Amino acid sequence: MSDFFSNTWSYYIATVSLVGVAWCVWLLFSQRRWLKQRPEQVQDTGHVWDGDLTELNNPVPRWWTVMYLGLCVIALGIMVLYPALGSYPGLLEFTSAKQVVAEREQQTAEMKPLFDQFASIPVEDLARNQEAHAIGKRLFLNNCAQCHGSDAKGSPNFPNLTDSDWLYGGTPEVIIKTITEGRHGVMAPLGAAITPAQANEIAHYVRSLSGLTSDPTLLAAGQAGFKKVCFACHGMDGKGNQALGAPNLTDSVWLGGSSRDTIVNTILHGRQGVMPAQKHFLTDDQIRMLAAYVWGLSNK
Ligand code: HEC
Ligand code: HEC
Repeated sequence: MSDFFSNTWSYYIATVSLVGVAWCVWLLFSQRRWLKQRPEQVQDTGHVWDGDLTELNNPVPRWWTVMYLGLCVIALGIMVLYPALGSYPGLLEFTSAKQVVAEREQQTAEMKPLFDQFASIPVEDLARNQEAHAIGKRLFLNNCAQCHGSDAKGSPNFPNLTDSDWLYGGTPEVIIKTITEGRHGVMAPLGAAITPAQANEIAHYVRSLSGLTSDPTLLAAGQAGFKKVCFACHGMDGKGNQALGAPNLTDSVWLGGSSRDTIVNTILHGRQGVMPAQKHFLTDDQIRMLAAYVWGLSNK
């Protein structure tokens, strides 16, 4: 795959590289006087310092010229073997992406014996195993803490993983699936179908579901609006739907926030949470270890 959007750049870089080497060789060739003979008389440049220090104009030493020619040969060799000439891939077809894959395979092979000893232990028991817990915690701090927090308690829009409230489900199998494949929770913006005034009514109703303060005069209209639109994903009772990742709206756990403004904003503009798939970065063994760690956080 080439990173160039036009072949011109590829030719340009190849030309600059080759002309650079050719120019070096030509320069050495033009200074080849020493090949024939040592100059009988060394010229001086006419510069004199401190009365008797003169600057001579000797040709470059032979070893230096030979070394430089050697460097040109090495440069040409690298250009043939490695991708140094624009989009030409080089005889070795080396890419840093392939190198990363190879290094990761090697690391995985080195870690295999460590993970093998845990392979037959069910995730629930793994969660109580001290050594597995330590490994899971390190993996979590390196790969998950930047979004879920080092204590896994999350922050607005990044779910808390230590409680028993789950968007997608909290069994080991579901957690493994979430980590492996990632999740994309989509609540489409409803601003085209719902006016801000209606959204306000529905927001008051939603707040009432979890016992938060709400304006009683708006609840009937809010409930009617909810039953017309929101039930499809959040359920008639507002308890959510784990197959869709639609949160339970009747509990005290909030992904985005419980204020009226936040809820109105969610209704009008929608909401999208993305949990990136980890299968590209982590092995199945590592994901299983992480699932045990995460499961253990809410199943003491
Ligand atoms: C780039 C940020 C990001 C990273 C990194 C990340 N997550 Fe997530 N994770 C999210 C978001 C956002 C969600 C909620 C998705 C949604 O709203 O549908 C989520 C959801 C989850 C869930 C589902 C929670 C539930 O209630 O069902 C689990 C489990 C989870 N993450 C575990 C992990 C683990 C383990 C890691 C480390 C391998 C990790 N996450 C790394 C952002 C992240
Ligand atoms: C198409 C399915 C769907 C419909 C219809 C839908 N929602 Fe959602 N809703 C979701 C999903 C999925 C999420 C989680 C988004 C995420 O993961 O970021 C969500 C999130 C929310 C949240 C944030 C919850 C929190 O814990 O912060 C609120 C509030 C909410 N919806 C209210 C409503 C209301 C009110 C309606 C009706 C006007 C509605 N939703 C209609 C799917 C839906």
